[in-house]
Parts: sequence; structure tokens; C-alpha cells
Amino acid sequence: MHPSEEIKFEKSRKLEGKRICLCITSSAACIEAFYLCRELIRHGADVNVFMSEKATKLIHPNLMEFASGKKPVVELSGYTEHVSLCRKGCCDAVVVCPCTANTISKIALGIADNAVTSCVLTAIGSKVPVIVVPAMHLSLMKNDSVEKNIERLKEMGCIIVEPRIEGERAKIADRETIIENVIRCVRERDLEGKNILIIGGASAEKIDDIRVLTNRSSGKFAIELVRECFERGAYVEFWHGWMREKVPDYVKSREFESVEDLLKMIDDCKNFDFIFVCAALSNYIPEPMDGKIPSNIRGLTLDLRVAPRLIDKLREIVGEERIIAFKAEEKEEDLIKKAKEMSRVFHMVVGNLTSSFGSDRTKIWIFKDGDVLEKEDKKDKLAELIIDKLGG
Ligand SMILES: Cc1cc2nc3c(=O)[nH]c(=O)nc-3n(C[C@H](O)[C@H](O)[C@H](O)COP(=O)(O)O)c2cc1C
Repeated sequence: MHPSEEIKFEKSRKLEGKRICLCITSSAACIEAFYLCRELIRHGADVNVFMSEKATKLIHPNLMEFASGKKPVVELSGYTEHVSLCRKGCCDAVVVCPCTANTISKIALGIADNAVTSCVLTAIGSKVPVIVVPAMHLSLMKNDSVEKNIERLKEMGCIIVEPRIEGERAKIADRETIIENVIRCVRERDLEGKNILIIGGASAEKIDDIRVLTNRSSGKFAIELVRECFERGAYVEFWHGWMREKVPDYVKSREFESVEDLLKMIDDCKNFDFIFVCAALSNYIPEPMDGKIPSNIRGLTLDLRVAPRLIDKLREIVGEERIIAFKAEEKEEDLIKKAKEMSRVFHMVVGNLTSSFGSDRTKIWIFKDGDVLEKEDKKDKLAELIIDKLGG
């Protein structure tokens, strides 16, 4: 068994049985191609590597053979690898990562002069999804020629995973963003055309200039919902409060701190088909004080007022039918009673227990159309179940 087999399915089975061509060109970011290849395999993919001749001067094909379990294609042979490995029926997606300015421009012009460009043009020609991940110095990208060629690739149907602009560099997108785009290409896109807003994380209410009143919500469930909706083809926005988890880069996100900050954003909710309200928002707001409360006051008391309820304002603006409300309680009996009551109004209600905050597993109750479904599992699997139940 090749060592690459040992890591297969370590992360998920989302790419099980999927054949992915990973094309590497000669950007300094090609060191990332090794890790990307391994990550694709961890999600179950079968990876064929193609390399430009110049890329082999930056990383050795042996390394990519170790990563993928197969000899990389650097020069086309009598086996016509571009046809036998890259066309529809033989390949599920092509990822060009990293993609140089040179290769972007050659593809845009239809030039097939090496293994990489021949693979990509064959894939485009047979309607295999192609994901292009540019990486270069900003000055190499911000010129009329390369910018137009990137636009041309979009017209040709390629998905461009935009680089992160940092100073003078257009850096390669992060690994998770690339992987999520690959999965989105190969999964069933039953949410295509839907606009979905997920509101997650914890609110933080100002006590004084440096202290806040917040809660233990980690934002994990919200992230799993973002991932699930994105992979199934929706346009997704993520509005989040404080998070212990990394905020995903692959969807547009907006940050809020307090409940009142969030309320100021609420007018922008109108165009979403569904809004998931799984943020842990404060029920009480302290009377904020300027400066820093001295640290040696004994018996300090805080004046708290009741916070405005986001869900009530949201109902006025978008109506109940588009809202998926989350309810967390300490005791199962209370949770079921309250969530059931709420489900008379909202599109769907998901109940969970406060004890699951921050953990990977939890038990949920999904209330929809008068029915209730109870399930305990990992949060990613539960997010899948919730979206399965979403309906039109
Ligand atoms: C160390 C090194 C790093 C490079 N990094 C990049 C890069 O990030 N992006 C890019 O477009 N070109 C970069 N280049 C220039 C390309 O390698 C050059 O344009 C080459 O002709 C591209 O060939 P290919 O597209 O067939 O791999 C780099 C070159 C070297 C030597």
C-alpha cells in the first residue's frame, strides 16, 4: 500500500470516488500544493498531479508522487494523459493551484503547450469544472493583460478562487477555501440559487472600555451550517459575533460585537431566502461605563437592562417563514416545550442543550411542520440533517 492511502478519509468521505486533477505551476506558492494534495486525499479524493516544467524546478515530482501515490504528469506521452485523465467521465474537477500569470494567460488564449495547459483546456472543453487559484506578486496581476485574462477565464466557466491581497502580494487563498470550492463543485447543488444568511457566534456587551459581558458559544454549529450551505451551492453570508473558531474565508462575512450593532445591520437581511439565527445573543445589557472600572471595588454591582430581541425585529422585517430559529436551554423538558411553541411561528426551530456549547457532538430536536426529529451526532452531520429538512 502506498503511504498516501493511509490518510484517505481521515477528514471526511465528501470526495470519495472523485477523481481530481491537481495542476501545479511555478509560483513560489507551489509548496502549498503538497499540503493541498494530502488534504484532498484526506477527504477521500483520488488525485492525479500535473506539473509545468518550470514547477519541477521549484518542487520535485518525487515529492508530489509521495503526496499523491502516483507519478506526476510533466510531459504528455503516448498515453495522452490530458485526454485519458482530464476529460468528462475520467475526471470530476481540475484544480490549478497555484496558477501563475503565465498559465492564466495561456489558458485564456487557448494555448495547450504543456501538460498543465493541455489538461485544463481539455477539461474546459468537456465541461469538467475547473478551479483556478492564482498566486503572484500584485504588480504581476494588476496589469491590463492579466486582469483581462482572469476575466476571460471566468467567461470560459472557470471558478477563480481569489487571492488574499497582503501588501504587495496576491497570496494564494487558504487551503480550506480551496477544498471547500472543490467539494462545492462535486456535491449535489440542491441549494443553487438560494441566498442564505447564517448569524452565529456570541454577542459581547460593553461593561466598560475594556470589559465585556459575553457567553460560551463557540460558533461551531454556525460554521458547520455555513459549510453545508456553501457546499450545496447556495450564496452564503456569515454574520458573526465573537468566535472561538476560525471564521471561514470562503464566504462573505460581517462582524458584530453587541446586539445593538447587529440590529443596525438588520435592514440588509431582506434579500435572503433563509436566515439561520444560531448566534448566542445577550439577554441583558449592562449600562456601559467609560474608561476602566477600578479593579479593587468590593461588592461591585452592574446595572443590567433587558436586551432588545433580534428575532422579534427580524420577524417584522422579513416575516417568520424565512427564519430558522435556534433555542438553547439547560433542561430537556424546558427546551422541548419552548422550541415546540416557537415552531408554530417559524419556518423551522432547532433546539439544543446549553451543555453542548463548544463541543463537537450534540443532541438536537428539529421542529418543522408539526413534526419533531430528535438526533444526536457530530455537529457537521447534524448541519447536513438540518439542511435536508429545510425544504423550499
Ligand atoms: C522562485 C520563483 C517564484 C515565482 N513565483 C511566481 C508567482 O508567485 N506567480 C507567478 O505568476 N509567477 C511566478 N514566478 C515566475 C514564473 O515561474 C514564470 O512566469 C514561469 O515562466 C511560469 O511558467 P509556468 O506557468 O509554466 O509554470 C516565479 C519564479 C520563480 C523563479
